[in-house]
Parts: sequence; C-alpha cells; structure tokens
Amino acid sequence: MSEQFVASNVNPMPRIGEKAPNFEAVTTHGTLRLSDYAGSWLILFSHPADFTPVCTTEFIAFQEIYPELKKLGVELLGVSVDSLYSHIAWTRNIEEKMGVRIEFPIVADLDMNVAKKFGMIMPEEHSTEAVRAVFIIDDKQIIRAIIYYPLSAGRNMSEVLRLIQALKTSDAHRVATPANWHPGDAVIVPTPTTVEEAEARMMEQDIEVIDWYLSKKKI
Ligand code: BEZ
Repeated sequence: MSEQFVASNVNPMPRIGEKAPNFEAVTTHGTLRLSDYAGSWLILFSHPADFTPVCTTEFIAFQEIYPELKKLGVELLGVSVDSLYSHIAWTRNIEEKMGVRIEFPIVADLDMNVAKKFGMIMPEEHSTEAVRAVFIIDDKQIIRAIIYYPLSAGRNMSEVLRLIQALKTSDAHRVATPANWHPGDAVIVPTPTTVEEAEARMMEQDIEVIDWYLSKKKI
C-alpha cells in the first residue's frame, strides 16, 4: 500500500454537535441519502467486512434491537466497503444459516465516500476496511454521539440502545444521566450557575440534593 493511497483515506472526523455530512449511496434498499432520514433519528454504523465472524454476530445483534429502536423513532443504516452483491449474499446467508432476517439497509460503499466523510477508515487499524463506528444522528441531522471500536471487538448493543434512551431522556426533560443510568433510574437536574441558585438548591425538598452541584430526581 503506497503512503499516498493510505493518506488519501484519512479524513477529518465529524464531531459531536456538528451537522452530519450528507451523502447519496447505493444500498440494499435502493439509493438513499442521509437527508432522507431528516425528521427521524438514525444510527449510521460501519463494519469492516461482510462474511466475517464478529460482524456477523453484530448484524444479528443490531437486528435484535431494531424493533426497540423503531419504537423510539430510530432507524438503522449499515455501511461497509463491500459490494451490493456481497451484502445481499451475506444477509441471505445470515437468514439461511442463523435464522435472522436483516431488515435495515446497508450501504455498498465501494468508493469509500461515506466511510471517508465519517472518518470510518483508520489506516493504522486497517488501510481499506472501516473500523466499527457508530454515529447517532438526531432528527435535525446533528451528530449527537459517536462510538468507535477496533476490528477485534464486537459492539455492545445494550449500550447503543441505552445511549439512545439517555439522549432522548435528556432532550425531553432537560436533564443529564449519571454513570450506568438506565431508563427508570433517577436523572441529574441542571447544576445551579449562581451563588443564589446554589443556596436555593440546598433548600429544595422535592429532589434528592446530594450537594448543590449534584442533585437527582425521578421522572
Ligand atoms: C470480524 O468481523 O470478525 C473481523 C472483520 C475484520 C477483521 C477482523 C475481524
């Protein structure tokens, strides 16, 4: 692999809070644009290669959480640098051998357009295959969270689902979520920003005030 080729695969990574870069791509469900998803949330995720063991377990696991994601108004879109025919053959194989029908579309990113736009190629990990990236994109097409995993480790779908639930809870209630939060657990109320508010917070009875800067409530 020439250095020039490797260098051409390196792109600035989109960051949390930025508008997700739009693209038009060939997928297993026809041509799709990122902008087609405006108005609903999207998990855009990459996998290194079709017909590989870890990716196969991940696809089954993504499909398992897909009904729950849809209930939350979240769509799934996979992407790898494999061809459309490879994607079709692989998902047919998963259904035939493992009994799981993959219902979400997969981008055939042969020209790496999507992978490069989203910084999914990390040449030190692999020069042409995408790492395991997860971009959580909201209904306004803003990137709200990014997860990267290396080729050797499959992702944790409970965490992907938990992260979506945490983001949507924060949006709906203007709160934050503590470490290891799960739906139903207490959430963190906004920290006071003035001395007066901090003093008032210490007097509050209807929320759990651990100290002026750390208070929780049930929602
Ligand atoms: C896998 O999914 O098993 C895999 C893919 C690319 C490199 C290594 C492992």
